[in-house]
Formats: sequence, structure tokens, C-alpha cells
Amino acid sequence: MIHIDSKIETTPAAESAPVVLEANDLRKHYSVKRGMFKGHATVRALDGVSFQLQAGKTLAVVGESGCGKSTLARSVTMIEPPTSGHLLYDGRDVVGRSAAELKELRRTVQMVFQNPYGSLNPRKTVGAILAEPLVVNTDLPKAERRQRALAMMAKVGLRADQIDRYPHMFSGGQRQRIAIARALMLNPRVVVADEPVSALDVSIQAQVLNLMMDLQEELKLAYLFISHDLSVVRHIADEVMVMYLGRPVEHGSKDVLFSRPRHPYTRILLAATPRVNPELRAERVVPKGELPSPLNPPPGCPFHRRCPHARENCAVDVPALREVDQRLVACHYAEEMA
Ligand SMILES: Nc1ncnc2c1ncn2[C@@H]1O[C@H](COP(=O)(O)OP(=O)(O)OP(=O)(O)O)[C@@H](O)[C@H]1O
Ligand code: SF4
Ligand SMILES: [Mg+2]
Repeated sequence: MIHIDSKIETTPAAESAPVVLEANDLRKHYSVKRGMFKGHATVRALDGVSFQLQAGKTLAVVGESGCGKSTLARSVTMIEPPTSGHLLYDGRDVVGRSAAELKELRRTVQMVFQNPYGSLNPRKTVGAILAEPLVVNTDLPKAERRQRALAMMAKVGLRADQIDRYPHMFSGGQRQRIAIARALMLNPRVVVADEPVSALDVSIQAQVLNLMMDLQEELKLAYLFISHDLSVVRHIADEVMVMYLGRPVEHGSKDVLFSRPRHPYTRILLAATPRVNPELRAERVVPKGELPSPLNPPPGCPFHRRCPHARENCAVDVPALREVDQRLVACHYAEEMA
């Protein structure tokens, strides 16, 4: 079990904030058919992820396509319950609960998806979309539900006269504001946002990120923020977890990871974003070769076939996630990567 303790957190305020979401050794395995006569194989989409998220803080999850970010989001929100591991909302274990118990607990953790076009029902007005969680989860009368929808619209920067409009009448940025408003209707403690600004124009991204940061401060929200864009992560994160083939390979405060990354994979990701860390510009920008399949992960260090620093034992020995220089890192030679 890995705990992100106060040695990794740097500010005194962070130490006192309660842990609102905790994952311990979370795994999600999918059984897939290999083809006729070949039986089934297991995709280890998520293969042992642990973290703690404190109220008012943002943990960013980064890594290339297919590393398991969305699987983590679906597991943590219980949209698709994990195969194994423990998941605690406000200190209460949610895995294995009855549907009735889960309904109440689920309010704690809400989700915002990448695509604000697909995630909003096109046949419902904004007012109906925002009132829906209240219909399902509360006994509030209709007039009160409308009042709460209006209040939330004001919070996310939408006008009251837009309440009877349909999603297609809004811009992409406004639709993402509606999706954020919907996620907040039940006063969650945690919002899991899976690439929430990736589908938006760059000029709109900053507006939505600033809104999310203002809401975080006002409501003491914790964010699990998934993004492949490290310049976005630099803007919003307190902590960063870098994933590779379903596992964290480096995890620590944003400042520590961005200023002195120690996992070769983190160094490559940062070198590809020179605005974030210009000192790494000379390093290899794209990892060589393809991301291996989680159906058939390599032995030893999962990164060894693409790692510019790999040595013989890397193909055999699995590096444990361990603490080195104020972060957790899974590399045999992390001490040398400075
Ligand atoms: N329902 C499923 N059945 C089988 N395999 C799956 C399923 N969902 C995801 N996977 C596999 O799990 C791995 C992780 O997928 P996931 O969508 O979580 O990656 P991601 O990091 O979100 O990628 P992206 O950046 O492209 O969104 C991939 O190899 C994917 O093919
Ligand atoms: S353990 Fe070896 S292969 Fe893996 S990241 Fe470190 S140096 Fe590279
Ligand atoms: Mg994804």
C-alpha cells in the first residue's frame, strides 16, 4: 500500500486538508476474446494504482494514449467498478457495497467528460439537465430544483435567460460549463475530469480551467484531472501522477516532478513540452517504439524496450515504486536521473 505522506506534500495547509478520495492497489482487468478457437486473454488496463486526494487539491494524471487514464476515471467514479483494490470516498470503502448504499456514496464523486457534445442529452434544456440529478437523488419540489439550477448557472458563468435553451444552442466552452454545473448539482467533494478541455479551442481552454480553479477554491473541491497536455497540467495541478501501462511510474508534487523529473518516461514527456521544462529540451522527445499492449506487457521494467537508459537487468527485474528525492518513482536508476 502506498501513501503519499507529508514528506511529498510541501505546504502546511495541505497536511491538514482531509483525504476525500483514496485508492489502494486499484486494478481493472478486462477479459477479451482473442479470436475464434483462441480463448480469452486479460487486458490489465489498470494494474495497481494507489493515491490519496485531499479536499481542495488537484491530482493530475498524465501519460500517453492507452495507459489507462480513462479506465482509472471510470473505476474511481464506480461507473465501472474496479476488479480489485480498495476505494474510499470520505474514508468509506465503496467497493462491494449494495446498490442502495452506493447511490448515496456516489454523490461524493462526480465526473466531467472530454466531449461536452456527447455527454449532454440534446433533447433536454439546460434547466432539465441540471435539475435531473436532483430529481433522481432528492425530494426537492420542481420550483426549488429550478432555483438551484439557476444558482448553479450563475456560478459557472451562464445567464439565467439561457435556462430553457438546448445544448446545441451553446458553444463548446459553454457546453463544458453546463457539464461542470451538472457535476456540481449534488455538492460533490471530488470531481473526476477526463480531458475536460482537450476538445475546446486553445483560447477557450484557459477560461474553463480558470472557472474550474475558482470553483475549487470556493467549494473546496478536489479534482482528479486527466490530461495528456502538460502545459494544462502545469496550470492546474498540485500533484502529478505519471502512468505507463496501467501503473504509476512517478508521482509527486507538480513542482518536484516538473523541475527535476527522475523517471526516464517523465523526462521524455516533459522534453516534448519545452515550455514546461526548457532544460530537458535536448533529451529524446518521443519514446522510441509503440506503447506495448497491456494484453502482453513486457517482463521486467514495462518501459525497458523504449527507455534510453535501460541496462541489462531492466529486462528482468520489475522496479518497485519507491520514494526517492521527495517523490515516488519506479525506476532502478532513479537516483542517477538528475
Ligand atoms: N472495455 C474494454 N475492454 C477491453 N479493453 C479495454 C476496455 N477499455 C479500455 N481497454 C484497454 O485498456 C487500455 C487503457 O485504455 P484507456 O481508455 O483507459 O486509456 P487512456 O489512457 O484513457 O487513453 P486515451 O489517452 O487515448 O484516452 C487500452 O489498452 C484499452 O484498449
Ligand atoms: S528501470 Fe531501467 S528501463 Fe525502467 S525506466 Fe529505469 S532505467 Fe529505464
Ligand atoms: Mg482516455
